[in-house]
Amino acid sequence: MQQTDTGYTIQNFAVEELAKTYGTPLFVYDASIIDRQIEKLKQAFRHFPHRINYAAKALTNLAVLKHMKSHNLGLDVVSVNELRMGLDSGFDADDILFTSNSVSLDEIDQSIALGVKVNIDSLSLLQRFGQKYGSSEPCSIRLKLDPLVNEHSGSREWHGHSKFGIHFTHLAEVKTLVDKYGIQITGLHVHNSSGFLDIPVYLAAAERMFEIAIGFKNLDFIDFGGGITIPFHPNDTVIDVEELGSKLAEKVSEFYKEYGSKPEIWFEPGRFLVSECGYLLTQVTVVRKDRELPYAGTDTGFNHLLRPKLYDAYHEIVNAGNSGGEKQVYHITGNMCETDFLGKNRSLSKIEEGHILAIKNAGAYGSCMASNYNSRVRPAEIMIRNGEAYLIKKRETYEDLIRNQVKVNW
Ligand code: LLP
Repeated sequence: MQQTDTGYTIQNFAVEELAKTYGTPLFVYDASIIDRQIEKLKQAFRHFPHRINYAAKALTNLAVLKHMKSHNLGLDVVSVNELRMGLDSGFDADDILFTSNSVSLDEIDQSIALGVKVNIDSLSLLQRFGQKYGSSEPCSIRLKLDPLVNEHSGSREWHGHSKFGIHFTHLAEVKTLVDKYGIQITGLHVHNSSGFLDIPVYLAAAERMFEIAIGFKNLDFIDFGGGITIPFHPNDTVIDVEELGSKLAEKVSEFYKEYGSKPEIWFEPGRFLVSECGYLLTQVTVVRKDRELPYAGTDTGFNHLLRPKLYDAYHEIVNAGNSGGEKQVYHITGNMCETDFLGKNRSLSKIEEGHILAIKNAGAYGSCMASNYNSRVRPAEIMIRNGEAYLIKKRETYEDLIRNQVKVNW
């Protein structure tokens, strides 16, 4: 989003005009930002054979998936429906990895029937998979490296009791199952954290993965999951992906020498690719001042952007209705019938009722985590791509809200 003399624009579209044309609340995605982020990763990892699988869960829209496909990315999916959306958007089954997470064998069966690779996250599931498929279907396994990552972690989600993956101390049990059923393990996977901030920790985890990989002879890939973040707050420092790529390249090349072949190195970015492309445009419905700061109430809330409520996440907010105006401090709230701050103590140019606010970094884990709480409908979504604005999801209606409700006669 650019600030020009006449207001904020996204790829030459005036933000206020977009709000007028499509209504609010509205998710707007700028495809050129996605392109920029993909390019950054491709550059950073150019030193070794790699593959980037977009983590579909971050922003799960058919048009966005299709855009990712146009960049020849693969796909990381976590449910059969995500998988089907990937196929519907033109991904080859072969380019999709289904990473299980407390799923039944039935979901694994469905994924295999649809032709995708599966990533198994527990010994129990590996046993059932082995019993059923033996050597006929390869799989990868998802590992958990705690406490290596906890000890070094500066990140909120790295913790000792994560439910994700097979703990690396259980590799002997993995081997027993592999021998018993002839399971072919062709990939190792780890997703350490969403939002890691520390290159040495990433490298330590990579080294541990490479040590483990030596014990598996037929690997096609080692997958380091997602977790590369972007700055949400102006003071946030994030890792430099160029530096990560070149330091990782040294570890990869040492590993290749020892391993004797070159399994691809895979990544599953979600947030890094789609956070910054997204804005949630919302209209100010009421400005009120009680005892302390003025509150600007809006026509959205945690039903549309849950992150501030759920994680106390910071999302920058600008007043597109008064770009460049004198600043004042506000609380920005939603319209949910609950405490619903989108931002506290925010300095924005003077807000009047009717102004359009743009909430930044709303691309990742925004619309996909939205709900119908308070029986409010979910917003429309548009994508601006090569200078054209496309409606990629319609605003819901009352009919959508009650579609699956059963009208009874009592
Ligand atoms: N791969 C796996 C196996 C994952 O579990 C995740 C995210 C990713 C890749 C992508 O991670 P990313 O690059 O986006 O950090 N709702 C939370 C984030 C939950 C992430 C869950 N897994 C949020 O809004 O911050």
